[in-house]
Amino acid sequence: MKRFEKPAGRRETITIDTASPDETFRLGVMIGRSIGAGTALSLEGGLGAGKTLLVKGIVEGMGIKAEVLSPTFILVEEYRGEVPVFHFDLYRLEQFEEVERIGFFDAIDGRNVVIAEWGDRLPEGAVRFDVVVRISMTGESSRRITIEAPAGLAGKLDGGAR
Ligand SMILES: Nc1ncnc2c1ncn2[C@@H]1O[C@H](COP(=O)(O)OP(=O)(O)OP(=O)(O)O)[C@@H](O)[C@H]1O
Ligand SMILES: [Mg+2]
Repeated sequence: MKRFEKPAGRRETITIDTASPDETFRLGVMIGRSIGAGTALSLEGGLGAGKTLLVKGIVEGMGIKAEVLSPTFILVEEYRGEVPVFHFDLYRLEQFEEVERIGFFDAIDGRNVVIAEWGDRLPEGAVRFDVVVRISMTGESSRRITIEAPAGLAGKLDGGAR
């Protein structure tokens, strides 16, 4: 199993409550504006939590015009931009070998942004994500979103989305 070691800088966890799909989208835009090549993000939360919506925001925030769909059946979508984005959906992942086969590890090469919906389906420690976003449903149109990220990035996002 390949492992990617990154320097363990100071990390912070922030919590943001969103009251509508649009607020979650706008949080995604802020994330997209704040990240650069080499960032790997895991988006976690149940079915319909808002992971794909957040990806739409991130891609928009990175200045990419692309139609972002849930890549559930094909497992990966690529959006071309100044910094390319590889959008994985690991929901249907059955064996760890599949992750290798769909190019997940190749995509984490420092030149792209890699976003994995259901990143928590990977075995513990297989990938060290720079940013881990956990979304929980607090109501029909409200979500609690926690973001664990390098302190600098977390600081940029904290407060700004409200
Ligand atoms: N505050 C909110 N934030 C995000 N989504 C919300 C919110 N309130 C309602 N929603 C709705 O929840 C749904 C989120 O769908 P989305 O496809 O983004 O979820 P997902 O986590 O990617 O699901 P899946 O696990 O099936 O891929 C959308 O229909 C959206 O309108
Ligand atoms: Mg999705």
